[in-house]
Amino acid sequence: MNSGRFAFTLSVILFFTIILNIQKSHAANEVHDRIFKPTSSPFSTALETLQKQIGYDFQNIGLLRRAMTHGSFSEENNRALSILGGNVIETSASLRLLGKDIDISSKDLNRRLSEISKVESSCTSDGMRLGLQKVVRVSPKTNSSAPGVVCSAFRAMFGAIALDIGKSDDAGDIFWNVHGGDVGVGDALAW
Ligand SMILES: *[C@@H]1O[C@H](CO)[C@@H](O)[C@H](O)[C@H]1NC(C)=O
Repeated sequence: MNSGRFAFTLSVILFFTIILNIQKSHAANEVHDRIFKPTSSPFSTALETLQKQIGYDFQNIGLLRRAMTHGSFSEENNRALSILGGNVIETSASLRLLGKDIDISSKDLNRRLSEISKVESSCTSDGMRLGLQKVVRVSPKTNSSAPGVVCSAFRAMFGAIALDIGKSDDAGDIFWNVHGGDVGVGDALAW
């Protein structure tokens, strides 16, 4: 092998060795990020736990972060997501109620729907049961256990899921899993 070819071969080998090492360290960083970043703060840890509790893994965890951020905490908050979430819950409940009883009166339907969306009722207790009052980020002056705070976080969670999936059906199903109960069972208290 003449020295020119040898030098060429050597630089080719060197080149690939460098490329491979760069790729390896990239991969290592990615693994490192995936393993360590989500648990890097108490808030992130709480989000991980919450995902396990509801049985849904976010593709975009930023959506759950936002859902668990009250309007008092930052400009980036859960206000709009909680409107979507409230609609997801009501749509899913309407489907179930009408599916069970096509003759339900509009008065009854509205009553049942307002029972699930009222802050004083199930959305607060469902949210508290999940421990959202310990997860949601609020300003220092805001009581994170206040029903309005817990409820908006609870609703926003389903808005976030719907947005993460790109449709509302699965978010509705997850709501029923979390909520327990079924629409046909029992009275208003079952909500
Ligand atoms: C926060 O709100 C909850 C629920 O309304 C209430 O029980 C609690 O006493 C409040 N805490 C403070 C410090 O105001």
